[in-house]
Amino acid sequence: MIKSNFKKFAPILISLFLLVVLAGCESLGARSDKAGDPYRGGWVWNNYTKELAGGSGELPEGVEHNDYVRCKACHGWDAKGPNGGYVRRSGFPDKTSRPKPTEGTDLTNKLGNITANFAKRGRDWSTENNEMPNYSHKGGLTKQQLADVVAFMNRGPKIGDVATLDITQKPVKYTFINADIDNGQALYTKSCKGCHAADGKNVTIGHEPGENPNGLIDFFRKDGKYSEGFHKIIYGENKKMTREAAGNLNTEQARDILTFIQSKADDPGKTGLDQ
Ligand code: HEC
Ligand code: HEC
Repeated sequence: MIKSNFKKFAPILISLFLLVVLAGCESLGARSDKAGDPYRGGWVWNNYTKELAGGSGELPEGVEHNDYVRCKACHGWDAKGPNGGYVRRSGFPDKTSRPKPTEGTDLTNKLGNITANFAKRGRDWSTENNEMPNYSHKGGLTKQQLADVVAFMNRGPKIGDVATLDITQKPVKYTFINADIDNGQALYTKSCKGCHAADGKNVTIGHEPGENPNGLIDFFRKDGKYSEGFHKIIYGENKKMTREAAGNLNTEQARDILTFIQSKADDPGKTGLDQ
């Protein structure tokens, strides 16, 4: 009786055993980025050459334009490449000072399973085009930066975790999932108002003076900016607005704050977040 039952169930038992072994291997692979810190990795993603990111403060020899070595310049702040906030980002070859996200730079389906191997191949520093640079060359990523950026890609919060993007609309339409707008307003008061003021106009934002006269509301009305804003409020932007200064936000808190800002920015009649 027992014997015949065993025969009957043996194939099932063997498949179960194999499943467990395989699942074990997979989670080991996914955990290979354990040594990295996803939040430090967010700085690396922005610009690994900066001291804030653990870099030397200098571009590697041969690099003329920093955008050609910044992960975000080809993969987008959201790691969605041409299917994210950078869908209309212009760059090489039309513009030679920066690259352009190309089809292979949407990493959405790879996040969670990325290993450090990506850094071992690619173009030389002095060849500035849309192709992946080789970050193991002199002046490339340190071991720690490599672990951190892999942790960022696999585990760091990204806007795609809490929003769907419609890139056919201009500006890109972000729809936040399960957002709590009142919580967002309360968090804005707690984490942002001290520097940006209730209306969002207190800090000069942008590359050109006068680019965003109404501060944050103007910034977020531009194309694809929620991807950038999400990244910067979670990971930090510069020495003043670090992750810590902006309240160590988690994914849901960042989502709620951006939803609050969006409720104002989407109303063309408003010129400040306090209206
Ligand atoms: C100048 C553009 C450019 C920059 C800068 C760039 N990439 Fe890429 N990356 C690409 C392109 C194009 C591909 C797809 C084709 C390929 O795999 O080479 C790619 C592929 C990848 C892949 C998937 C392929 C793999 O081997 O796993 C990862 C991961 C990746 N990049 C990470 C990064 C990180 C991290 C940085 C910054 C440290 C970065 N990339 C900077 C253009 C770029
Ligand atoms: C400690 C002060 C401080 C706090 C707190 C702070 N910021 Fe900032 N923020 C700044 C400064 C300074 C800049 C200007 C950076 C620059 O020079 O481009 C900035 C820039 C920005 C930018 C634009 C980045 C760019 O590329 O121009 C956004 C968006 C932003 N902050 C949103 C927020 C939000 C939302 C919060 C709350 C979660 C917040 N900030 C909290 C100081 C702060």
